Amino acid sequence: MTARHGIIGWPLGHTLSPALHNWGFASLGLDADYQAWPTRPDELAGFIDRVREQSIRGVSVTIPHKRTVMPLLDRLTRRAQAVGAVNTLFWCDGLLWGENTDVTGLAAPLRALEKLPDTALVLGAGGAARAAVAALAELGMPEILVANRTPEKAHELARDLSARAVPWETRMDQGAGLVCNTTPLGMSGELLDATPWDALRFTPGMIVYDIVYNPLRTRLLREAEAAGCVTVSGLEMFLHQGLAQFRLWTGREPDEAGARALLLNRLA
Ligand code: ATR
Repeated sequence: MTARHGIIGWPLGHTLSPALHNWGFASLGLDADYQAWPTRPDELAGFIDRVREQSIRGVSVTIPHKRTVMPLLDRLTRRAQAVGAVNTLFWCDGLLWGENTDVTGLAAPLRALEKLPDTALVLGAGGAARAAVAALAELGMPEILVANRTPEKAHELARDLSARAVPWETRMDQGAGLVCNTTPLGMSGELLDATPWDALRFTPGMIVYDIVYNPLRTRLLREAEAAGCVTVSGLEMFLHQGLAQFRLWTGREPDEAGARALLLNRLA
């Protein structure tokens, strides 16, 4: 029987997840499929019942369900508990688990770098920022700073995840060797020309990570690259969070370079 997988969210909008996972299944010859399942908040509990009844093998969870789905599950991984959000449902020993592969996805491209600095700064304090702080903590980053437009949210995140909140206005004065943007500044649409960093305030060798992947090269990344920084695109996070989901569901791993090429092609 075809193993079923899909993504829930509301509104679901365009997502690259079906393309990634269906390509992965096909490339490994697996009898499985992955669909988009737009699910309203009031439909969430009923949806989880269906996951149990129909033994749906894997589910990706996106906004606005990442937190509200948690009490509906049997178990949460330590990582999902730490972040306070779930983006993946999977089965283990007959129990329905919630995991957060955004953390794995965020950490993967940083793990591949030769050397990380001692201080990292996360811009933003929403769900993605929580995953970024958790990822940096998993990487053993000695000091993690958080700056957010609304300071209260930075303080709350910092308290929950043992980071340090700094005022948004002072973000460029903190001497951070790694900056991770989790705000929508630079994203296509109204904010396309926006950037959270002054082009004159980069230092050569600084690592600049933008989790925005549409466009692929945001203004932040273009200006950082021109200033001699090491840049990491949000495509890497998206790719690796997806590969981590695929591993949880199938125990297999599709070809990373092939998956990256597929996504680059879709975003071109
Ligand atoms: P996500 O789940 O992607 O992290 P989110 O929870 O909506 O999304 O968080 C978005 C983050 O981007 C927030 O930290 C938000 O700041 P506020 O807490 O002040 O709302 C930040 N953000 C959104 N628009 C911004 C802007 N124009 N300038 C600076 N920060 C912005």
